[in-house]
Amino acid sequence: METKTDVLLGLQWGDEGKGKIVDVLTPAYDIVARFQGGPNAGHTIEFGDKKFVLHTIPSGIFNDRTINVIGNGVLIDPFIFDREIKAIGASGVDVSKNVLISRKAHLILPTHRLLDAVYEKAKGKEKIGSTLKGIGPAYTDKTARKGLRIGDLDLPDFDQRYRKISSQHLKIVSLYNADFQNIEIEGVPFEAYERSWLEKLAILQLFEKTDSEYFLNRSLAEGKKVLAEGAQGTMLDVDFGAYPYVTSSSTTSAGVCSGLGIPPVKVGQVFGVFKAYSTRVGSGPFPTELLDKTGEELRKKGHEFGATTGRPRRCGWLDLPALKYAIMLNGVTELKMMKADVLSGFREIKVATGYKINGQVKEAVPFDSERVAIEVVYKTFKGWDNKLEEITKFDDLPPQLKNYIRFIETETGISIRLVSVGPNRKETIVR
Ligand code: GDP
Ligand code: IMO
Ligand code: MG
Repeated sequence: METKTDVLLGLQWGDEGKGKIVDVLTPAYDIVARFQGGPNAGHTIEFGDKKFVLHTIPSGIFNDRTINVIGNGVLIDPFIFDREIKAIGASGVDVSKNVLISRKAHLILPTHRLLDAVYEKAKGKEKIGSTLKGIGPAYTDKTARKGLRIGDLDLPDFDQRYRKISSQHLKIVSLYNADFQNIEIEGVPFEAYERSWLEKLAILQLFEKTDSEYFLNRSLAEGKKVLAEGAQGTMLDVDFGAYPYVTSSSTTSAGVCSGLGIPPVKVGQVFGVFKAYSTRVGSGPFPTELLDKTGEELRKKGHEFGATTGRPRRCGWLDLPALKYAIMLNGVTELKMMKADVLSGFREIKVATGYKINGQVKEAVPFDSERVAIEVVYKTFKGWDNKLEEITKFDDLPPQLKNYIRFIETETGISIRLVSVGPNRKETIVR
């Protein structure tokens, strides 16, 4: 019987714990497919005493009967991809066997990374806080219809195409009065990086390239179970995040259709992943941000440092207006709450229930949230001291946490079917 694609995506500013939960859910799926973003993503998976951070490869890779698809909406950087494959390969997983790459996925070129660096620098105080992986420039070229795709690697004139576009990029770099030879990427001067990037292109040829839209639609027709894995988070969506402090792709469930070639009628459940509090890396509005000791404590207890860049994440309380906005945009059918354990030991836990703007309390996320003065309205909850890591049953969670969960469910109208109480695969409570 024909099946539908389930979706798992982040409802906040990224790093919600998507990688962990995709890995937990994978045994129930035949195929896991990434639909957008690139190596700006860092998805952490822990099981046993092993820990991996995935950037491009879908988080289903640790189940050897699951096929992992890198969809057309994804950007691939062969340099980072190579490093990732080696790290996973060292643990005995044969990556090339279980990964299919869409011919239509775009490449991140070395000069995209140069441009990212140059554009960010030129923005000065208004910088986005990009991961500098070349995401913005690569998606720009995609929509400007001059990007290079994985399928282009097999064309006889790939080298000429590459030279043409990269020399155009170098001209732009010089317009910004930057000397590309002095810019380092991955710790080496540009030209050395470019040489190594060109060598790594060969790695991509070890993988089966596919027209993933045909593969996925055929798989659904055959009754295979497909899970689409989001990267970044809803509040970083290019349309619905606090523009321009966003990434350059559609991070919402809408991106599943364009990023995989699956029609809306074939989208099934939408699992929304959120942290029990909030974090953000990079610049941009963050109404519930805590710049005090409590924020520091959240960062310390939650190990809130970027999986891709190592930057400290900004921390704050859960933002319900933003969460409701994300649920609305994605059509979330089920919530999954992450990092509940990090809240243990706080005397009080707060949740934003509204934004007071010009004396009026509103729930809608404002158009210009970085410009308006927002006074956040909070509801305060009693904390708990219990350690949660060893708990395996929902009923055994402290009553204060259950009360917190119930409040979020009532406010959002969506039930929380999973509570994560630690980074490890087994520290997961399913209701
Ligand atoms: P992703 O980008 O959404 O996949 O999330 P990241 O991997 O960037 O960040 C989530 C971080 O939290 C990782 O370091 C995970 O190992 C960790 N993590 C995930 N779930 C939990 C949890 O329930 N509790 C704790 N303490 N850490 C968690
Ligand atoms: P995962 O998938 C958190 C943020 C950057 C920056 C903005 C734009 O691990 O949740 P970009 O590199 O796309 O130009 O950066 O988006 N950002 C992320 N923040 N998690 C991510 O991915 C992110 N990917 C990009 O910090 O503010
Ligand atoms: Mg991450």
